[in-house]
Amino acid sequence: MKGLILSGGKGTRMRPITHTAAKQLLPVANKPILFYAIEAIKSAGIEDIGIIISPETGEDVKTTVGDGSRWDLKITYIVQDLPLGLAHAVKTARPFLKDDTFVMYLGDNLIKDGVAPLVDRFNKAKVDAFLLLKEVANPSSFGVAQLAPDGRIICLEEKPAKPKSNLALVGVYLFNNKIHKAIDEIKPSRRGELEITDAIQRLIDTDFHVGSYVLTSWWLDTGKKDDMLEANRVVLDEMSDVSMLGELRDGSRISGRVHVGKGSILKNCTVRGPAMIGDDCVLENSYVGPFTSIGDGARVTHAEIEHCILREKCQIVDFHGRIEDSLIGVNVELSRSNYKPVAFRLMLGDDSKVEVV
Ligand code: TTP
Repeated sequence: MKGLILSGGKGTRMRPITHTAAKQLLPVANKPILFYAIEAIKSAGIEDIGIIISPETGEDVKTTVGDGSRWDLKITYIVQDLPLGLAHAVKTARPFLKDDTFVMYLGDNLIKDGVAPLVDRFNKAKVDAFLLLKEVANPSSFGVAQLAPDGRIICLEEKPAKPKSNLALVGVYLFNNKIHKAIDEIKPSRRGELEITDAIQRLIDTDFHVGSYVLTSWWLDTGKKDDMLEANRVVLDEMSDVSMLGELRDGSRISGRVHVGKGSILKNCTVRGPAMIGDDCVLENSYVGPFTSIGDGARVTHAEIEHCILREKCQIVDFHGRIEDSLIGVNVELSRSNYKPVAFRLMLGDDSKVEVV
């Protein structure tokens, strides 16, 4: 079995961050989302993974992920010239996939339990495709499945106005080679994409079997800023190890589960976990609250930060205010000269400079 991770796309919902960065490389608990996908697939014993990349962000993905040797697996990069849909990505990957069975994983999704249990069920069920589903409160925003009593899927609809169930398609799919013919037989949808839901519906209509498994543990789709913050919250909340590799100075205090990376210095700071501070950071006279992660090389002085993702090398200096529910890109400089006690909610792309006066 092979793995296919989709790490192309446009990422329009995550602009301006995605003007300069691939959304799949955004960090959750200081680790790129894409790494969680790779590790989930590896946990199922799959060691041959193709990654779909776009011409715009593909080089960054390649540089960050490398050749797979750090996970002891083989990675092949496949360029999709335009983001013409999930089924189009599978079509583009055909020379890599050949006729092998494969697990397809959307590179901006996170699931708690890896894909090993799913691969097991797929093999036992002897079906042609197998989908992971999750009960959601707002099915109209997703691909929705209608099931027969034995768990087989009888109908799929993309973002239906009147959903037939509350079971949404999670971004993990298993296929055998039958999917390729189904993709060849579908046409682009109204939004101009080759939809994987149409291809799976085509399988169902031509009497192939599509099984499913309803996930009970968490699943997170990190398409938007608040989804990223939620993913960060959930992953930090599950962090079990506490590690202090940096230095606490001038009465700095830490409570709860907190990771401080090597070379980081905290002077007169309070950190309440769960929180993660990367390597070589300098924090002074500041408060870091729960569900916050701060990337390597960041500098924070006179600021309160809570429920935030701060990326590498960002500088929040003499801020004298509170920043919450925010996603701040690489190298951002944020400073403030006229300080009234207010809170800020921000989404700042890489290299932004903000001066609040
Ligand atoms: P989406 O989140 O559905 O699409 P997108 O990344 O273009 O984002 P937006 O809707 O904000 O513009 O894509 C799910 C995953 O699949 C994501 O990791 C990107 C990837 N993808 C591809 O690799 N190729 C494609 O053609 C599409 C549509 C998505």
